[in-house]
Amino acid sequence: MSALNGKTIVLGVCGGIAAFKAAALCSKLTQAGAKVHVIMTASATKFVAPLTFQTLSRHEVAIDTFDEKDASVVQHIDLADRADLVIVAPASANTIAKIALGLGDDMLSTTLLATTAPILVAPAMNVHMYANPAVEQNMRTLADRGIRFIEPGTGQLACGYVGKGRLAEPEDIVRAVELHFAERGRLTGKRVLITAGGTVERIDPVRYLTNDSSGKMGYALAEAAVRMGAEVTLISGKAAIPAPSGVKLVRVDSALDMLEAVMSRLPDQDVIIKAAAVADYRPAERHEHKLKKSDDELTLTLIKNPDILQQIGELKTHQFVVGFAAETRNIEAFAMDKLRRKRCDLLVANDVSAEGAGFGTDTNIVSVYDRSGFVEALPMMGKREVATHLLHLIADRLGKGETADT
Ligand code: CTP
Repeated sequence: MSALNGKTIVLGVCGGIAAFKAAALCSKLTQAGAKVHVIMTASATKFVAPLTFQTLSRHEVAIDTFDEKDASVVQHIDLADRADLVIVAPASANTIAKIALGLGDDMLSTTLLATTAPILVAPAMNVHMYANPAVEQNMRTLADRGIRFIEPGTGQLACGYVGKGRLAEPEDIVRAVELHFAERGRLTGKRVLITAGGTVERIDPVRYLTNDSSGKMGYALAEAAVRMGAEVTLISGKAAIPAPSGVKLVRVDSALDMLEAVMSRLPDQDVIIKAAAVADYRPAERHEHKLKKSDDELTLTLIKNPDILQQIGELKTHQFVVGFAAETRNIEAFAMDKLRRKRCDLLVANDVSAEGAGFGTDTNIVSVYDRSGFVEALPMMGKREVATHLLHLIADRLGKGETADT
């Protein structure tokens, strides 16, 4: 049976010549067993008649927000609530901009605002429009919020240009949708707690010690875990990016705050991933008022912070625990030492001195270890891809009922 069987999919169709391909997409999704509800923008109706989509989906097509046919529901909210997935294909530069800005001036944009379902966007536009910095920035904004893209293809465009901007083929979009639903089941029913970002250790009300962590790796893990169906708690120190949607976000400052936030939630969790860069030391004294300069030298006394991961390792019962190790040399030896000391089930090590890895970058190069030693080394890839890969690895092992005590 297809992974799409019985799923409710809202298909948003924007104005563009690629709207004709959306008809094939609608047909394929329906044939695979999905209940497809099509929303067209007014411009889309200039390219393809609504009747085409109505006939293919066997449902009325929604176009006008105020054309309420069923008095018992508000249609854009009803569609937004019922959707298991919203696909926008083709997505125009205009609708992408509207989603990025949170505008709701038609049926499609209001539904996109109202839905909590995952959103897949398949853009189609002229090559220069696709490369326009405004469009690029809007797409980055959406990606940061956890919206996934199905990249357009390269080839002859209807506007006469040859380049990138052609809507992905309907078969490829269906494949991405199938993958989405297959992925979704992997962590359904699991509670995953992820720590991310750097801790902030206060010296006085305006000064602190911290580190270069951007939170990108931990946030990517949280985003992927939500996508895979988990109930995700993200305990975040200082981070440079907005939190992905669908997580329970707990903001913390110091390592001590993080310790409290993690330990109080530990018993309920199935998986703990410690991607945060926790400061090993904090100022011995936290001054209530801003320190005034006086002598030529100032000595700060630092005291050791508790090791959160180590405490998790000591107190865990059934939880699958994943640690991270930031190293600059002897990666394997240090990683295995941390894994054993902190009783992790998996340890993800990265050489933070390598180009394309570590703090602040969008990519990472990691190697993974378990109690028996080396598991695998991943080549340089985007932090989102690393996150997805790691969560599949975790889901595989959860499926086998592994924890450090088995
Ligand atoms: N960690 C933690 N609490 C700390 C320090 C680290 O929970 N006080 C966790 C990190 O979140 C990470 C792992 O321990 O998952 C390893 O962090 P890392 O900074 O690489 O190692 P340290 O234990 O600090 O060891 P060292 O300074 O010797 O490299």
